Amino acid sequence: PRAHITLDRQALVAPVRRRTFGSFVEHLGRCVYTGLYEPGHPTANDDGFRMDVVALVRELGSSTVRYPGGNFVSGFRWEDSVGPREQRPVRRDLAWHALESNQVGLDEFARWLKLTDSELMLAVNVATRGILPALDLLEYANHPSGTALSDLRIANGTPEPHDIRMWCLGNEMDGPWQTGFMTADDYGKIAARTAAAMKMADKDLELVVCGSSGSGMPTFGDWERTVLEHTYDHVDYVSCHAYYQELDGDLGSFLASATDMDFFIDTVVATADHVGFKKRSTKKINISFDEWNVWYLKEHMESQQAETEWRHAPRQLEDTYTVADAVVVGNLLMTLLRRSDRVTSASLAQLVNVIAPIRTEPGGPAWRQTTFHPFSITSRLASGEVVRPVIESPVYETARYGEAALVDAVATVDEDRAAVFLVNRDLAEAAQVTIDVRGLGSSRVAEALTLADPDVYAKNTLDDQNRVVPAANTTAVLADGVLTVTLPPVSWTAIALR
Ligand code: AHR
Repeated sequence: PRAHITLDRQALVAPVRRRTFGSFVEHLGRCVYTGLYEPGHPTANDDGFRMDVVALVRELGSSTVRYPGGNFVSGFRWEDSVGPREQRPVRRDLAWHALESNQVGLDEFARWLKLTDSELMLAVNVATRGILPALDLLEYANHPSGTALSDLRIANGTPEPHDIRMWCLGNEMDGPWQTGFMTADDYGKIAARTAAAMKMADKDLELVVCGSSGSGMPTFGDWERTVLEHTYDHVDYVSCHAYYQELDGDLGSFLASATDMDFFIDTVVATADHVGFKKRSTKKINISFDEWNVWYLKEHMESQQAETEWRHAPRQLEDTYTVADAVVVGNLLMTLLRRSDRVTSASLAQLVNVIAPIRTEPGGPAWRQTTFHPFSITSRLASGEVVRPVIESPVYETARYGEAALVDAVATVDEDRAAVFLVNRDLAEAAQVTIDVRGLGSSRVAEALTLADPDVYAKNTLDDQNRVVPAANTTAVLADGVLTVTLPPVSWTAIALR
């Protein structure tokens, strides 16, 4: 296919928001235990955190980290995970049918975040606890000193408050799999009360109310409307969650997953604005897309039902990603960037081992999955403002999403630099792309990287950790204000311009 793209620094969407590059750490499988935390590992620091993982997280360039769940949070008592470690109880985690040792809790995790230079986004258990435990956690975490719980935090070894700004009011409360799931009406009421009380303690908190667990949920749309009718005045964000995978060998549809994400965002924005208008409110609710990724969910559902034992940190959701998965992840991130006007926070789910860009072996190495690369390169190169691209591309027919463009793109522009991100969804042919960059004022290609492989199912594994890495794209040439580049079939590309 041939595609033409026009980029102009007059056509801006919104600033590039660092929170778009958030991620997610859940107490699930080996994300925490033997993932980021493994006392006795050759790279472990005094806290037991693996410094090889810290180095990869820094390279990934993730910003906020959502914690500690996920479905896990709906059965969690935060008090279990602070104070002397030897006194912390072992509990059953019903969400993932596993044992939780509570050896890592808020105070340890906050120290880990400092190592990775990330911001904490904390979820409270709205599902099975209540307003007071949420307020207690807020006092423990954020109050400076001189109250029972802030002094307890200090006694536990954390003198400075954590000063957590973003808080999630539960997780996926629309999902029947959620411990304590609710109707939209019930959840809206409890979320509104919890949010109002938390803002009595600190009016500047940024609160995220649960939206739908996916655009395919039967309650999608009505859920957002009802929940926001209750909570609109008290919250700042509504969440979206979306996972994609190739189904029935339909790679074409899978590669167009970003069109569903676009539809999801459009619908939630329209619903939120509708509720806002009905309330005659000038306030806008933004989207926290706080779970998104490729996940082989179908395979997981089949194996999860077989889980009978109660084990600590079992291998769960350890998906090994392909080149095609990385192209989709890169494309989803492009979509989030392109919607930076209303998606002002997002979290790749998750960070280590569990559907994650980083994998580890206990006592062994840590390595980058294929999906690591588009995320880390986009996080490194995107800066300044997001540019709304005008894309002229041939389309193809998908079984799942109808017509989709073969070439998709987004760009960012800063004072002295710009970056263009592209995918070619064609299964067989390279795309010849011309990009008019006169309106960006760029004059040369500083860097061009493409992720592609003749085997679109190639993966990085323990035995072959760098089987798939991005390579320089030497076809990228900028002359007379026109950037030309060839994109291999099923590929993701980033081009940095100066
Ligand atoms: O990220 C894995 C799980 O996916 C989370 O715990 C849950 O919120 C979602 O269903």
